Amino acid sequence: MTDEPVASCFSVSGVASAYEEIYLPRIFIPWARVLLERAALRPGEAVLDIATGPGTVARFAAEQVGRRGRVLGADFSEAMIAIARAKPQFAGAAAIDYVVSPAAPLTADDGAFDVVTCQQGLQFFPDRPAAVREMHRALKPGGRVAAAVWREIGFQPYFAAMDSALRESLPDHQAEPYGLPFRWPKASDLAAAFTGQGFTDVSLAEVRRPLTFEGGMRQAFAAVAASPVATTVAGLDAAARARLWSAAQRRLAPLVIDGQVRTHMVSNIVTARKSG
Ligand SMILES: C[S@@+](CC[C@H](N)C(=O)[O-])C[C@H]1O[C@@H](n2cnc3c(N)ncnc32)[C@H](O)[C@@H]1O
Repeated sequence: MTDEPVASCFSVSGVASAYEEIYLPRIFIPWARVLLERAALRPGEAVLDIATGPGTVARFAAEQVGRRGRVLGADFSEAMIAIARAKPQFAGAAAIDYVVSPAAPLTADDGAFDVVTCQQGLQFFPDRPAAVREMHRALKPGGRVAAAVWREIGFQPYFAAMDSALRESLPDHQAEPYGLPFRWPKASDLAAAFTGQGFTDVSLAEVRRPLTFEGGMRQAFAAVAASPVATTVAGLDAAARARLWSAAQRRLAPLVIDGQVRTHMVSNIVTARKSG
């Protein structure tokens, strides 16, 4: 196979569309449903979704709490919030407000929310204790939090394969950011992050669910355009990209079944409560 069929995926402007078209339906949307099952939202509740990105969890939360509820989505990326705002809301859903805000300090009122959600955001926050403290501050007494953080990259066969392909094809400093989403330490540290900020009823679950790239290796490879190394890969010359494609084909081969890349992902999900 030549490099050409996948070359067009790697443009800087392709990052948002790769996230939207490849990551969202296969990863973030199904995982949002898992997170919201744990949050057990009730009609009329007020929900704050931190690191909302394109509003993945916020939009389903709005559907679940219905018109009497309310949702605020916060993210420090103006580009992400613009994408979230442009999305239509589901029929019968609560209104969603979006705010450009870091996780800490967070632009949200004290004691205003029944539930805080955060899907795959905590691992990126520079001051995690401060971010968890902000979640606590924004919750009403008795309010709940549900947050998901991927397990280490060794538990994510597709990402581990691509990480190996990147490491063998690129200098370390260029390949290194790919694994960023998978660098939260241990599950016990995740639980401790919440107990340490005054939460009670802290409970941890390790959840595994399938990940399929039905478009096979090309689609799995194209997904790199939505990863933390998207810009680096976009800037590679044709020879370097061909080397990466060849390494990816070799590393992904064990995951290919009937022309599809079929694997799974594993996330820790923590739920906790603010004392009433
Ligand atoms: C992997 S995405 C997850 C987005 C969303 N929760 C979803 O499920 O689609 C991580 C998000 O965290 C946001 N983020 C990273 N660091 C942040 C910070 N310090 N404060 C607020 N948001 C942050 C990014 O802009 C990005 O939208």
